[in-house]
Amino acid sequence: MGKVFILMGPPGCGKGTQTSRLSAKLSLPHVDTGSLLRKNIEDGTALGAEAKGYMDKGELVPAELVSRIIKNRLEQDDARGGYILDGFPRSIEQAHILEGIQNELGYDTENVAIYFDVPTEVLVERLVNRRSCPQCGKIYNLLSIKPQVEGKCDVCNVDLIQRSDDTAEVANARFKTYNESTAPLLDYFSDKGILKKINANLPIDEVWAQILELLGK
Ligand code: AP5
Repeated sequence: MGKVFILMGPPGCGKGTQTSRLSAKLSLPHVDTGSLLRKNIEDGTALGAEAKGYMDKGELVPAELVSRIIKNRLEQDDARGGYILDGFPRSIEQAHILEGIQNELGYDTENVAIYFDVPTEVLVERLVNRRSCPQCGKIYNLLSIKPQVEGKCDVCNVDLIQRSDDTAEVANARFKTYNESTAPLLDYFSDKGILKKINANLPIDEVWAQILELLGK
């Protein structure tokens, strides 16, 4: 049976960083709603135009838009054997939507939710110092994971970018949204017996070691 990993936790907890490693380790597709939405904005789609206003304010994009993106992505053949969800579901409503999509697709998979536990206080600093490569998506941090050449991606040598929602003001709005809409999923997944928790307030390699331990690797 294939595995579906649901990585959850507050903005900046390290989901994207660890999903890249997990995706490479297990050869499972990385399905990241935030990046898929930003791609729609960049491509100038109607969906992107509608999503942008919510993202700029740190609010959840309406579930109907996100579920369309997720369904299109999970219908692709590479998701049949499992996948890693980074940033979805983000509410009980979205958890029900995921279950509906999974039932419809009928892949032989089981869900495992991994909660990245980090106190909010350390996250604003992580977010305002995040930079990423617009080409390969590699994530850097001006304090902890610096590129070899200032402002350039180590892999692609293109200029790194800063996300427009990585300001202290929008980050605080994102934490509020997380606490109101996403945190209730912890009890939801716990009641289903699929929730695993890791301490994500540690260096990246130590967070990764906990994930490997969960996987029994
Ligand atoms: P999204 O892009 O998903 O953002 P997010 O959930 O806020 O998460 P981030 O990407 O900010 O953080 P991350 O946990 O991946 O951290 P990272 O590894 O980069 O969503 C953006 C917006 O899109 C939302 O606000 C919403 O509007 C919309 N949206 C997305 N999904 C949606 C959905 N399902 N429904 C509705 N709307 C949706 O790490 C952060 C930084 O910390 C990096 O610089 C990294 O280098 C560094 N770092 C990572 N780990 C460590 C560590 N252990 N120690 C020190 N530094 C670390």
